[in-house]
Amino acid sequence: MSSMGTGYQSSGCGLFLSTTRSARSSGFVLGPGTSVADGRFTLEGLLGEGAFGLVYRAYDRCRRTDIALKFVCKIPDAPAQTILENELTIQSRITDFAYVIRAFDLHPVDYAGHSASVLSMELAPGGPFSDWLDLYRRDQTARLSQGLHLFEQMCLGVRAYHRSGVAHLDLHPGNFVFSANGALKLTDSGCARYLGPSGYRAYSRWRLSGGGLGAPEFRAPELWRAPADCAGDKSSDVYSLGSLAYLLFSRDCRPPFVGTQEDLRHGHLYLEPPPLTGVPRDIARVVARCLSKL
Ligand SMILES: Nc1ncnc2c1ncn2[C@@H]1O[C@H](COP(=O)(O)OP(=O)(O)OP(=O)(O)O)[C@@H](O)[C@H]1O
Ligand SMILES: [Mg+2]
Repeated sequence: MSSMGTGYQSSGCGLFLSTTRSARSSGFVLGPGTSVADGRFTLEGLLGEGAFGLVYRAYDRCRRTDIALKFVCKIPDAPAQTILENELTIQSRITDFAYVIRAFDLHPVDYAGHSASVLSMELAPGGPFSDWLDLYRRDQTARLSQGLHLFEQMCLGVRAYHRSGVAHLDLHPGNFVFSANGALKLTDSGCARYLGPSGYRAYSRWRLSGGGLGAPEFRAPELWRAPADCAGDKSSDVYSLGSLAYLLFSRDCRPPFVGTQEDLRHGHLYLEPPPLTGVPRDIARVVARCLSKL
């Protein structure tokens, strides 16, 4: 149920993180049965939490089905509305949803003195990939036998973004979720960037992420190098897929580099990851190719 197992998250700004945390402790985490958006949605439980959002399972009275609702708490210099609007705009460019979560609509809500916006989207009731990893953390054999199929689905989700001209730029285990039919789907376009002429991106999210885009354990060298606007493209996603594959197949289920933010920066920029052991040569070769520095 929870997505907090492995602890991989985007590098949200401290302000937002503490807002989310204080939101949780001050009761912003809403109980089952709570009705929001003029009664349209009835919350059923918390599905997960990221650096920027809380995601609930909810019943949608209009669609007459369960959906997922993403809340971003409102803070003065980062209106939740803007952040989620950016996410929806980017999501609307995607056309193939076999391995991508479909975003529906944005709804303003007021609850117990808090203003928030919510993004409704397709529900993936099977939990995040990070929970699956936690389950098989000590079982490299299981990760190797089942993981190739899962990794293929991750690549298909990323390919759907790329074919629509969008780079995701925040690939980590919490951003892949299992759908009702067992498919692994890519979610969370909060850092994504449209690669067309306008170079449109979720700019407020970029500004908020201060230390760089995406989860540092999986972040491509060019995103470490250029903490300025409009960095990152499809090849940054390929690098992050390599980091995910490394984590998935490595003996200890560890990402290519670990340690402090500075250790991660240094590793991704200048070092070769420790060689993968106990892994078929073809897989090791593909992972190394994805992780090669540009
Ligand atoms: N459509 C969905 N169905 C089920 N669970 C979901 C869905 N979308 C998100 N979740 C869960 O909620 C968690 C947080 O959602 P999301 O990644 O959108 O938030 P975030 O704050 O933008 O995250 P990040 O830390 O990656 O920036 C996810 O890790 C996942 O466990
Ligand atoms: Mg996320």
